[in-house]
This record gives sequence, C-alpha cells and structure tokens, in this order.
Amino acid sequence: MIERTLVLVKPDGVSRMLVGEIVTRFEKVGLKIVGMKMFWVDKDFAKKHYKAHVGKPFFPGLEKNITEGPVVAMVLEGVHAVEIVRKMVGTTEPKSSAPGTIRGDYAHVSYKYADAKGVAMKNLIHASGNLEEANEEIALWFVDKELHSYKTVHDVHITYE
Ligand code: CDP
Ligand code: MG
Repeated sequence: MIERTLVLVKPDGVSRMLVGEIVTRFEKVGLKIVGMKMFWVDKDFAKKHYKAHVGKPFFPGLEKNITEGPVVAMVLEGVHAVEIVRKMVGTTEPKSSAPGTIRGDYAHVSYKYADAKGVAMKNLIHASGNLEEANEEIALWFVDKELHSYKTVHDVHITYE
C-alpha cells in the first residue's frame, strides 16, 4: 500500500512562487519526498510526459504551458500516495476544484474561459492519475539513484515502520 507518485509544480506554479507552499502541504500530511529536481521541459519531453494527450485539441496549449519555464519535479511516497495526492491537488478544472485543494485554493480558471481564449488551462500542478501512470512517469523523470529511501518522523506515526 506504500506507493510512490510523481508531482510537478508546473511553470505557472514556479513563476507564481508557490513551490514552497505546495511542498509544505505534502510534507504536513506526512508524504515523504524521495526525489526532487528543477527541470525545463522541451517539446520532445512534453510529448513523452503527456503522450496520452498528444493530438487532443488542447495539446498545443498544454505543450506551450509546460515548456514556458522550469518545473519542480518530485516523487512523493506514502500510504495510497497516488490517491492522496490527487485528492490534495483537486479536479483538473480549478473552477470546480474544492476549497482546500491546491487547484481550488490557488487558481480559479474554467474550461470555458480557457477555450474562449484559445489557451490551455493553467492549474499549477501535475500529479499522476493512477499507480500505473505513476510508475511510468517516475521512470521517465527520475533515474534510480535520484530516488532515496530514508526514515522520517512520520514513519513512526503514519506508516508504523
Ligand atoms: O492534470 P490532470 O491529470 O488533472 O488532467 P489531464 O486530463 O491529464 O490533462 C492534463 C493537463 O492538460 C491539465 O492539467 C490541464 O492543464 C490541461 N487541460 C486543458 O487545458 N484543457 C482540457 N480540456 C484538458 C486538460
Ligand atoms: Mg492527467
């Protein structure tokens, strides 16, 4: 049940200087950072990371957004980490993301507005959608020696290690 998942603070989140705020939220629930780096995605890499979306109408805008500045990539580990992180991130559309979620607290744009403007929605953060996607994305973003196993105080209270 201990899972690892990939999180990206996307270029809009880095540019808005929300990296610390976002990382703090994950630390506070006891998710362990087992890998972290800053990386500037180019168009080729965008097509690898978002391979499921290549060819969709919003892909050109998504590619523009993800390549417009560096991202902060991290791998988080914890009990049901994939689902917990998605819950904390909120729904894809910030307009419908609940208050208390990252997208709901720090963004508010809608599909309708982004479509009318002819842009892709900026929603601050990426998180793997399921365990299979998480394993694939972690392998794409990190090599084994960039991922670390260590103890935190949360292992005593949350994962009972
Ligand atoms: O990021 P998430 O897994 O919640 O959503 P996705 O369906 O995997 O889409 C990836 C990203 O593409 C979203 O986070 C949005 O930034 C963008 N997107 C968009 O701009 N317009 C859509 N209709 C769908 C996705
Ligand atoms: Mg997704």
